[in-house]
Amino acid sequence: MDMPNLNTTHHFDVIIVGSGGAGLSLALSLPDHFNIAVLAKSELTDTSTFYAQGGVAAVLDETDSIQQHIDDTMIAGAYLCETAAVRQTVEGGKASVDFLLEHGVQFTLDEDEQLHLTREGGHSQRRIIHAADATGRAISTTLVEQAREKSNIVIFENFIAIDLITTRKLNSGNQPNRAVGLYALDEKNEGVHTFLAPFTALACGGAMKAYLYTSNPDIATGDGIAMAYRAGCRVANMEFNQFHPTCLYHPKARSFLITEAMRGEGAYLRLPDGERFMLRFDERAELAPRDIVARAIDYEIKRLGIRHVWLDISHKPAEFVKEHFPTLYAHLLGLGIDITRDMIPVVPAAHYTCGGVMVNENSQTDIEGLYAIGETSYTGLHGANRMASNSLLECFVYGLSAARDIEAKFRPCLKVPDVPAWDATQVANPDEDVVILQNWDELRSTMWNYVGIVRTTKRLERALHRIEMLKREITEYYRDYHVSKNLIELRNLVLVSEMIVRCAMQRKESRGLHYTLDYPELSPELRKTVLIPPNFGVEQPLVNH
Ligand code: FAD
Ligand code: SIN
Repeated sequence: MDMPNLNTTHHFDVIIVGSGGAGLSLALSLPDHFNIAVLAKSELTDTSTFYAQGGVAAVLDETDSIQQHIDDTMIAGAYLCETAAVRQTVEGGKASVDFLLEHGVQFTLDEDEQLHLTREGGHSQRRIIHAADATGRAISTTLVEQAREKSNIVIFENFIAIDLITTRKLNSGNQPNRAVGLYALDEKNEGVHTFLAPFTALACGGAMKAYLYTSNPDIATGDGIAMAYRAGCRVANMEFNQFHPTCLYHPKARSFLITEAMRGEGAYLRLPDGERFMLRFDERAELAPRDIVARAIDYEIKRLGIRHVWLDISHKPAEFVKEHFPTLYAHLLGLGIDITRDMIPVVPAAHYTCGGVMVNENSQTDIEGLYAIGETSYTGLHGANRMASNSLLECFVYGLSAARDIEAKFRPCLKVPDVPAWDATQVANPDEDVVILQNWDELRSTMWNYVGIVRTTKRLERALHRIEMLKREITEYYRDYHVSKNLIELRNLVLVSEMIVRCAMQRKESRGLHYTLDYPELSPELRKTVLIPPNFGVEQPLVNH
């Protein structure tokens, strides 16, 4: 539906921040009589969802079972996964696949016209449905097309949510705190709009732009996690940041992932002398869980003083390679690498935020009316390490359950109170934006160098010291100057980076993705790391600039 004339205040039944798998599965599962706003920071397909290559995990083959998918997830997650969340997600696989098929997503079929199942690290079975090696593109373009056709969904591209609006301050008496909407910057017209609704969902993706090298698109700045925390929601397990083992190492291709499905279909990791080194680290070799493979690569790169290792699928028939990986084949050929003959230079890069905003089985956060879905959320599924292709599945399972919950709780009489417009009377135009660029670079280098694949307490302390300084500077800048996209993102990224470091400092063991030389052993205690915001459950002022 076309966007209406823009007034400063918009009223909807549901506001969804994010147009990835999580946001759009919620939007498309709500009843047609709901008025829904979908906000996206840039174009609707500018999401991690769009860039997903491997696929969506689901138990579909008769030789597979729910229990095996659960067991694999628990093993990959180093037993820190919450069993109920794992079961809910795995059991929701079939319904999620049906949802995607019903909406017209075209997946690769095998010779019997059944969904072709590929394999990735940690999975004991073939259970990944995919659209060749561009699964995210197929999902994203199809769901975006469907959302655009719906007359009850209003799309706001280039709108950047700044902060949530909650009722605590407005309510008298003992009514519970409730989310009633948010403020968002209209990037093109530079105004700040007020969006009001009885239900708001944060489906803002992850935060891996906190790191200098990442597979993530630019939108992944942890906005949802930061907004929820500032509004009073608990956040958990932020120390678990997944580094994908195989991102392309090439000066002309930034953030380009080489799917794990390539190793699933038989590719080897090799050192410059040709050695297949993963055999030395884990009996599952290239298909060990990601934390193990990324750490092994990091170890070899540091040991040998090399810039990258090699991924090699040239021993497979050329036709097989081209058929399974047409997008990668074409893209890499454009860079002068013929993957049917040449090895691919690869390095690990920050890929996935396993922690996030704590939610229940319906994606409901600590604040009534506020939901968090997809990579923004912490459902308990991933534990200390996400298993490949479980994250898209989580987006759909929890997107659908949030829709059911919102529908059940919706009452036509649910009214939101009057809310003051964004107040920018006390702020000026920034005198020099170089401060933002400088802080942005410093933050991401600090995170990469001190809070990466291998950590120490000293490195974490150094990182925290620098992050606190940056946070003070950015907070001052935010207080004094008009908001801009860069400033909003940096303010969120610095808060989320602080959360990552604080969680990492609390975990005095090495488990899954959190590996520290000071505590190399597993602790017998299984616990998540929970960050409780200062305003958790207490009176707080209405969030406004
Ligand atoms: P996203 O898809 O990232 O969408 C986030 C949305 O939020 C965007 O629309 C963005 O504009 C919007 N947004 C963010 N902040 C704001 C704001 N302040 N205001 C307005 N809008 C905002 N997982 C798998 O399961 N299988 C795979 O094969 C796979 N491959 C991957 C490959 C790559 C290269 C990457 C980066 C990730 C991959 N993942 C994969 C992980 C998976 O893609 C993501 O976890 C998942 O897509 C996240 O979906 P999401 O809807 O939560 O967020
Ligand atoms: C990949 O295709 O390797 C990414 C899969 C994932 O992140 O789940």
